[in-house]
Amino acid sequence: MRLFVALEIPAAVREELDRRAEAFRRSAPPARWVRPDGIHLTLAFYGEVAEDKVSLATDLLRQACVGRAPAILAVRGAGWFPPGGSARVVWVGVESSRDLAPLAVDAAAIGLRAGAAAAPDERPFHAHVTLARCQPPWRREAAERFVERFAVPVGEPFDAAAVTLFRSRLERGGARYEAIERFPLAGAA
Ligand code: 2AM
Repeated sequence: MRLFVALEIPAAVREELDRRAEAFRRSAPPARWVRPDGIHLTLAFYGEVAEDKVSLATDLLRQACVGRAPAILAVRGAGWFPPGGSARVVWVGVESSRDLAPLAVDAAAIGLRAGAAAAPDERPFHAHVTLARCQPPWRREAAERFVERFAVPVGEPFDAAAVTLFRSRLERGGARYEAIERFPLAGAA
């Protein structure tokens, strides 16, 4: 099954993101916008994982989370990928009270051990929440208008107290994400 590991974003913040995006969408170039219920912060994308390897991945993820403390996250700022070029993906930034990169690296390594089809991302981890995939890529002006729209922080800071393993189902209307298991971040702060 197609899997990825992510931190969930509270409904209030997702709804606020959607309200802001809605106002912008009316004058935006074409894009596939992430459904509000599909908004999350990806730590590692696994792609296909064999059914008989999923329990290995869940065991390892549970262990990796036991010794780690929860983080306080805040949705602040925005940008696009690839930086400097035409926008293929537009995103909002995430500030964290603790560095999330080691958690993302561990989550990716667990995918490798579970035989995940997707190779770990070689780019340095950059905490972000994808809001839209631009088709065709947006010119700089449109991407800059998006960034201006999200210049003001979105919602209140919130606790990330668990890591979630998601299943992604590719459907005609876009991907649907289903939480398979949540692993509490149980370590001391
Ligand atoms: P991102 O766009 O926020 O980085 C589920 O598909 C999630 O996995 C997406 O939200 C996407 O996060 C991430 N992802 C990373 N690499 C991917 C890939 N090659 N194919 C699909 N999703 C990928």
